[in-house]
Amino acid sequence: MNDNHAAIQVGVIGCGDIAEQRHIPTIHAFSGVDLVALCDSDIDRAERLAKAYQVPHVLSDYKQMLQRTELDAIVVATPPWHTPYIAMDCLRAGKHVLCEKPMAMDVATAMQVKETELETGYRVQVGFTYRHGLLLETLRSWIREGRLGSPLVYRLGIFDEVWDPAGNPEHYERIYRTMQRGSPSIHDGAHVADFLSFLSESPVQRVESFGLKTRHEFPSSNYDTSIIEFENGDMAKVEIGWFLPKFPKGEFEVIGPKGIAIFDRFEQYVQLRTDAITETVTLEEDWAMSCFREQFNKFIASIRLGQPFVPGSDEGISSLRLTKVIETSIHLNIHKGKE
Ligand SMILES: NC(=O)c1ccc[n+]([C@@H]2O[C@H](COP(=O)([O-])OP(=O)(O)OC[C@H]3O[C@@H](n4cnc5c(N)ncnc54)[C@H](O)[C@@H]3O)[C@@H](O)[C@H]2O)c1
Repeated sequence: MNDNHAAIQVGVIGCGDIAEQRHIPTIHAFSGVDLVALCDSDIDRAERLAKAYQVPHVLSDYKQMLQRTELDAIVVATPPWHTPYIAMDCLRAGKHVLCEKPMAMDVATAMQVKETELETGYRVQVGFTYRHGLLLETLRSWIREGRLGSPLVYRLGIFDEVWDPAGNPEHYERIYRTMQRGSPSIHDGAHVADFLSFLSESPVQRVESFGLKTRHEFPSSNYDTSIIEFENGDMAKVEIGWFLPKFPKGEFEVIGPKGIAIFDRFEQYVQLRTDAITETVTLEEDWAMSCFREQFNKFIASIRLGQPFVPGSDEGISSLRLTKVIETSIHLNIHKGKE
């Protein structure tokens, strides 16, 4: 991209569920950006979406796609055991990257991505989508202003991926494959670790985690719970559950000596309650879609202005460090339970 006003040319690698539901509609609706190439190793997926969104170039080999010199930036929405290697090839080909979370399956590989950024001068933004936008930013401003006091207790429950193998076999197989590479704490836990780092802004001091399989045939625990202590004295209680037929709502609350803040993702509001006041901020548009739009907006603005990508590889590595500690703690506690 030579001129600051020219449209930024974007390609997508990995045209699966999240690309179809969120990334491609977001890019398509964004002004000042052209979606010019789609790639998926399953070419039928890429072709179907290219037709729906009038994207001119469709490929099954991402290395061929990276030879297209007009491409400025790539959204990488592949499973995390492919993502870091594709991201590094994108950087070496001179493209900026917005990659899905987690940015890798281990910290050493994530560090290689960061080194490749430093070598090439091209950069990575990590898809911690839900830290963006009005609701999380309002919650953080209440915490930063000391409206809840200190120390704080974070209570987070994330329940996702309904267990319905007969009704939705594609989903069952995709999530089963994902659990073969780690429990929900590695996958949805990436977002949770980022929420906690975004809100508490303190290093983690201690972690104790437990995991449970509600069906013995699952390849990993499908219900994980963790207690996390932070250096600043904050504490978090986290539950992440997948593959259950019915879900509890899953809370997102921050409790302090002066009051409580509630983030209701379903009713799309944050609320601060103290003895003196109740303050509510409500989002009128769809929360998830607005987060994807804001995430992409920041990615494009950082490219145009040459500014750091946030959340970038440092945030990606920090999230991965916490989820790997959780994974280790789960394994240790499983073995302790068997002694
Ligand atoms: N930010 C969010 O809110 C959010 C939500 C859901 C999933 N995700 C993340 O997005 C990623 C993808 O998840 P998904 O549910 O869309 O998975 P998916 O399996 O539906 O899609 C992945 C796609 O990548 C393609 N692919 C794999 N290797 C490839 C390669 N080498 N070259 C080209 N294409 C390749 C697959 O064929 C598939 O179509 C995961 O890391 C997941 O954690 C993020």
